[in-house]
Amino acid sequence: MCPRLKTYREENRRAEPQWHNAPVPSFGSADARLLIVGLAPGVRGANRTGRPFTGDYAGDLLYATLGKYSFAQGEYRADPADGLELVDCRITNAVRCVPPQNKPLPIEMNACRPFLSRTLAAMPSLRAIVALGRIAHESTIRALDRKLSQHPFGHGATHRIDCNGREITLFDSYHCSRYNTNTGVLTEAMFHDVFKSVRKHLDN
Ligand code: URA
Repeated sequence: MCPRLKTYREENRRAEPQWHNAPVPSFGSADARLLIVGLAPGVRGANRTGRPFTGDYAGDLLYATLGKYSFAQGEYRADPADGLELVDCRITNAVRCVPPQNKPLPIEMNACRPFLSRTLAAMPSLRAIVALGRIAHESTIRALDRKLSQHPFGHGATHRIDCNGREITLFDSYHCSRYNTNTGVLTEAMFHDVFKSVRKHLDN
């Protein structure tokens, strides 16, 4: 569906035949109440290991935070064989194939959205979504058939969305990327606060 991503994948396959080099599936049970939506696999992270955020710099903060708020158990060792389990939580990406320079094009986000919609539809207990970054937020709002003008992205913002009779709360966060954490756009405390709110929401 995405010629540019296919070409890039084939290049990666030639250079690193041992890597996953394919669309990265969601991680965690479809029965979870929480879904985390990332941007897209990193080339040496999820695209290499086949598990979202695994081996990516962003995964260090994400998985540590999930452990802190009891959404993960076990030790995260940046390896899909580390035995880490998500608890009441699932992780997916707005775009499932690795894009060059971590930058998916709008046409690629649109092409991948049906997969996100299906992921959402296949989660019967879904109550909360964390969107990591503006692109994940926008793709999620569109996948839920809502208007961006009514649901603007903002770190720490929450959006209550009625989805065919079930109420879902979308929590926005800046993406936990190396760039955002190195530049101070996102601190560990800011990221923790988002998941603290999610925990409180789900425990109510
Ligand atoms: N790895 C992922 O799987 N998703 C991101 O958004 C970033 C890194």
